[in-house]
Amino acid sequence: MEYMLDTGNVEYIRKAIEYFPIGGITTNPSIIAKEKKDFVETIKEIRKVIGENMLLHIQVVSTNSEDIVEEGKKIVKNFGENTCVKIPVNKEGIKAIKILSSQGIKVTATAIYTSQQALIAAKAGASYVAPYVNRIDNLSFDGATVVGNIIKEFKEYNIKAKVIAASFKNLQQVHNVALHGAHAVTVNEDLFERIYSHSHTDSSIEQFLNDWEEVYGKQKIKDML
Ligand code: E4P
Repeated sequence: MEYMLDTGNVEYIRKAIEYFPIGGITTNPSIIAKEKKDFVETIKEIRKVIGENMLLHIQVVSTNSEDIVEEGKKIVKNFGENTCVKIPVNKEGIKAIKILSSQGIKVTATAIYTSQQALIAAKAGASYVAPYVNRIDNLSFDGATVVGNIIKEFKEYNIKAKVIAASFKNLQQVHNVALHGAHAVTVNEDLFERIYSHSHTDSSIEQFLNDWEEVYGKQKIKDML
């Protein structure tokens, strides 16, 4: 399972890719607007920081298929071929997914609440589908089960599209979709920090160092060898 960052914060991305195995960056209009910076400059900066090979998912804001197609093509032309055009799944979106994917443009079908939306987007040619786990949970359905159903259906019908589970508010949701075999999760900065860290790990490290220092003082192994 890949870890992706759901953020438009360039400084966070810069640090995170230095330290962690990050498989891609996802954004949406709300995430970008939160940065309150020039859109084009922000995306260009993100692309520069992550390099030309990492997948960057940029969502369209146009709403009719013709405009979505035009916007999608311009997004890829300006931000590189490893940019996935994120398109919300509705009638116009599905038409645009068909057109763009038939022209070799990678599409991420987004704002997915049901497994049927994922299936039809994938049949239309989407390379990735993004079910919204927390938003589904908030509707009193189980987001992780929806993710699991999508994975099952893709296997059943031999569909190659990958599932990027999105919209998380807590670690348990991430854990649950991992158990269901999600290909990727995309999480914001706050949640990502909680994926790898644990206060008990920190206190264990502190104890190891205290025990070591009682016998060896401040010496490091690298200086003993
Ligand atoms: C990512 O692709 C989605 O746009 C994002 O995860 C939605 O998250 P939210 O429900 O926290 O807005």
